[in-house]
Amino acid sequence: MNTPTRTYANEHTYSLSDPTAFWAEQADRIPWYETPTQILTTDEEGLTRWYTDGVLNTCYAAVDYHADNGRADQNALIYDSPVTGIKQAFTYGQLRDEVARLAGALRSMGVEKGDTVVIYMPMIPETAFAMLACARLGAVHSVVFGGFAPHELAIRIDDAQPKVVLSASCGIEIDRVIPYKPLLDEALSLATHQPAHTLILQRPQCTATLQAGRDLDWQESVSQAEPAGCVPVKATDPLYILYTSGTTGKPKGIVRDNGGHAVSMVYSMVAVYDLKPGDVMFTASDFGWAVGHSYSVYAPLLRGCTSVILEGKPVRTPDAGTFWRIISDYKVDVLFTAPTAFRAIRKEDPEASLRHQYDLSTLRYVFVAGERCDPSTLNWLEQTTGVPVIDNWWQTETGWPIVANPVGIKLQEVKAGSATWPTAGYDLQILDEHGQQVGPTTTGYVCLKLPLPPGCLPTLWRDTPRFHSSYMSRFPGYYLSGDGGYVDDDGYVFIMGRVDDVINVAGHRLSTGEMEELVGSHTAVAECAVVGIACDLRGQRPIGFVVLKDGQTITPDQVEKELIALIRKQIGAIACFQQALTVKRLPKTRSGKILRKTIRQLADGEAFTLPPTIDDPAILDEIKASLQERHIGLAFA
Ligand code: COA
Ligand code: AMP
Repeated sequence: MNTPTRTYANEHTYSLSDPTAFWAEQADRIPWYETPTQILTTDEEGLTRWYTDGVLNTCYAAVDYHADNGRADQNALIYDSPVTGIKQAFTYGQLRDEVARLAGALRSMGVEKGDTVVIYMPMIPETAFAMLACARLGAVHSVVFGGFAPHELAIRIDDAQPKVVLSASCGIEIDRVIPYKPLLDEALSLATHQPAHTLILQRPQCTATLQAGRDLDWQESVSQAEPAGCVPVKATDPLYILYTSGTTGKPKGIVRDNGGHAVSMVYSMVAVYDLKPGDVMFTASDFGWAVGHSYSVYAPLLRGCTSVILEGKPVRTPDAGTFWRIISDYKVDVLFTAPTAFRAIRKEDPEASLRHQYDLSTLRYVFVAGERCDPSTLNWLEQTTGVPVIDNWWQTETGWPIVANPVGIKLQEVKAGSATWPTAGYDLQILDEHGQQVGPTTTGYVCLKLPLPPGCLPTLWRDTPRFHSSYMSRFPGYYLSGDGGYVDDDGYVFIMGRVDDVINVAGHRLSTGEMEELVGSHTAVAECAVVGIACDLRGQRPIGFVVLKDGQTITPDQVEKELIALIRKQIGAIACFQQALTVKRLPKTRSGKILRKTIRQLADGEAFTLPPTIDDPAILDEIKASLQERHIGLAFA
């Protein structure tokens, strides 16, 4: 590296003043088939592209390269499943063989470079094999979180148009076996697009019924397959699509390319997570979320680390000591999860008494992301583990931290409530309504001056117009993150929450706009609002307010029950939609805009000034009375 003395300041400055040189140097860490010479370009659609003439294979760089270069016997993946009692380790050599055979099976089903494959599976090693097998063939995977209901899966199948869908007979939620195949069958009956085949992994807890011709048995197909080699792809070819909630019912298909992704993953492991080849990373997040994609699978493997995956919860499988046991059993260097997991542990074991049964001496850092880390959880965690707790802020769209404590360069003072400083490559600015940069400590829209660094979404899957309208058009020349926040006098970034209809429930990103579309589809509902209110376990949870059509005889209790069931069926239990209040009217501005933010502030007990454009302030008193009566919201609990 040409970077002079390695400090955060000169690394960040260098990355912004000469992004081509900076990211050309970072690319040296990747085993390319053809090393890129064109580092940063703009394509014919005006999109930023990194490493345009580079050629690589992400599976090769993440698996075969390490197996061929001295790590064949090092553990690549460790699977710990308290819900089934299974513990299994796969070395880089074994992982290569598993992935090559699965890739061969996919190829025999017709999957080739550029085809899409949907993966709807639980937290088992085969899910990681499936992702890597797609990468090996140059196929584009789209993992759909197993907690999503058939309707959500169907939307994603229709958008991604997969040639094959991979699934398992069931998932296990603590002690409940959840058969996945009926969910997949229902999704396929809802979807317009039909894959040529499904590949089903039969788990011993539940056997799926297979439809002859369409559904193939995983074990059988893999055992008959010829191992497939790694197919070279262009750096700009898509590696995966990951759907995430936007402000409408249709999720956004975030595209990740191969080259920029590989470089950014490794850079983040060096500069942020401070992990060397051979180190052990335990990321507790489902594969179906961005954290699971980046830090359970791709980043640790691209870096030659060992990744530990957990099929189970931080609590109740069997107790609140699971994370501490895993750290001790596998000599974990870095633990990464969402703050909500620690709130759950703390609720069950406030004194962290279980922690003392385990040796946590290998642990160097705990990283948290996915939602705001409240100072109380951060302090508890620091005291419990005795290591720095590092908040990092990012999004599915970026795939790696936008703001983090640059631990791999030098650990900076931790300020509770802040994820510290912008990472190299990110030119973070806070803008006001008019797109003007605001001064320190002033809250505004958190934006990123273009170009975005490698690894960030180049566009949305087959929807560049939506990419522009969602992120690029509000402030030309900037990417709009959707979060509000401010920067303090020391440059620390404080993220204060979304400025749109996206909410975060237990680290799961959901759209209240989508929930409103569903609630509004109920025949008795005239109008509605769904608002994310504060929740001391999950960070936020959605709550519905409905106005019934005139002349309805249905009771508010019955409407509430039906709406809860509707959201559970259409989105899934993870939406945690548990309350829908019938009210006479919704508070609005004089132009008819529902004052969702004011309702949220009222429920959360946050101080607020009455919007000057409010139509009828008395309506807020009615909402307040409804919340009070049901003890809903931190203000009325
Ligand atoms: N398949 C099927 N159902 C699922 C599921 C899955 N993969 N994941 C969750 N669900 C269900 C749960 O069983 C629960 O159902 P219920 O209402 O019938 O009880 C519901 O969805 C809500 O799940 P969740 O919000 O996860 O609540 P929980 O009480 O089961 O667990 C936490 C709460 C905090 C322990 C858990 O969410 C957690 O560990 N989160 C942190 C890690 C994480 O995943 N972060 C996201 C990205 S960083
Ligand atoms: P997702 O795309 O699911 O990772 O969710 C991204 C959103 O989660 C961000 O836009 C933020 O609103 C929120 N988020 C993620 N990490 C943090 C963090 N460290 N602090 C505050 N909010 C966060």
